[in-house]
Amino acid sequence: VWIRVLGSAAGGGVPQWNCGCANCQEARRGGTNLQPRSEDSLAVSVEGDRWLLVNCSPSVQRQIEAFPPLHPRAPRHSPIAAIVLSNGDLDHCLGLFQLRESQPLTVYATARVWEGLVERNAIFRTLKRTADQITWRPLELNRAVPWEGGLGIEARPIPGKLPLHLEGVIDPSPEDNVGLWLTNERDGRRVAYLSSVADASCLTESDLDVECLFFDGTFFTDDELERLGLGTRRAAEMAHLPIGGAAGSLARLKSASARRKIYTHINNTNPILRADSAERRAVERFGWEVAFDGMELRG
Ligand code: MLT
Ligand code: MN
Ligand code: ZN
Repeated sequence: VWIRVLGSAAGGGVPQWNCGCANCQEARRGGTNLQPRSEDSLAVSVEGDRWLLVNCSPSVQRQIEAFPPLHPRAPRHSPIAAIVLSNGDLDHCLGLFQLRESQPLTVYATARVWEGLVERNAIFRTLKRTADQITWRPLELNRAVPWEGGLGIEARPIPGKLPLHLEGVIDPSPEDNVGLWLTNERDGRRVAYLSSVADASCLTESDLDVECLFFDGTFFTDDELERLGLGTRRAAEMAHLPIGGAAGSLARLKSASARRKIYTHINNTNPILRADSAERRAVERFGWEVAFDGMELRG
C-alpha cells in the first residue's frame, strides 16, 4: 500500500489565518524549523492508479495539485476513486464541496456522519447536480467493507464528539467519530487512522498491532490554549487526548506494537511542530514520528 500524507494539521492549519502565536509566526517566516501544514488527510492506493482519500480537507485542491498521482489523466478524469470520512468535522468534510465539478464521487461514511452532511444542508445539493454525482456507501461499525485492490475499510467507534455545528442539534452516537482500519487483504497488513481520540482506553493491543498508526496529535498539553492566552477550552473539552502528561497518549500507547507511530491532526499551537523543541525530542524518544504534508509511506 502506498500512503501519502496530504495534510497533517488540525482544523486551523499551520499557520491559522487568525493566529499570531509563535508557531504560526514561525511558519509564516519560512525556514526549516517549522513547516506549514494543511488539514489532516491521507491518500491511499494499492496499485498507485486509483486512490482512496481518508477525509476531504478544505485544502483538498492544493493537496491534489501537490501530488501528481492525483492529477487527471484525461480531459475529464480523476484517479480519486473514493473518499472515506472519519467524522463530520468541517476540517474533514469541507473539501467535498470543493470537489463539486460534476465528477462522480463515492463516499464511505457512517449513517450518522452522512445524515449530518445531507440533512438541513442546502449546500449539499451542489453535489447532486447529476443523479450519479455522489454515491454513499454506508460504513457499519466493526464491519470491514471491501474496497478496490483487496483493501478493506473498517470503522470502529472511538470516543469523540459531534461536529461543532451539530452540537445541541442531535444527540451524540457512537457513529459520530470513528477510527479507520485499512487492511491489505493480500498480506493482512493494516494501517490505522485515528485523528480524533478523546480517550484511548477503548483501544486493545490488537487494535494497535498495525504496520502504521496515525494518531491524534492535536495538543501536547490539556491547557495548551489557555497557557498561550488563546482561549479557555481544554483539550479534554474538545475531545482530543493530549500527547504529554501521565494520562497522555505518549504514556498510554507506550507499549503499542504498531511498527510506526505517527502523530497527525496537529494543532498550530503544539510544540512538537518545532524541530528543535524538547517536546519533539520527547515524542521521538518514545518512537513516534510527526506527520508532515507530503510524507509518504510504502509497503
Ligand atoms: C476538532 O478537531 O475538534 C474539530 O475539527 C474542531 C472544529 O470543527 O473546528
Ligand atoms: Mn479537527
Ligand atoms: Zn497559532
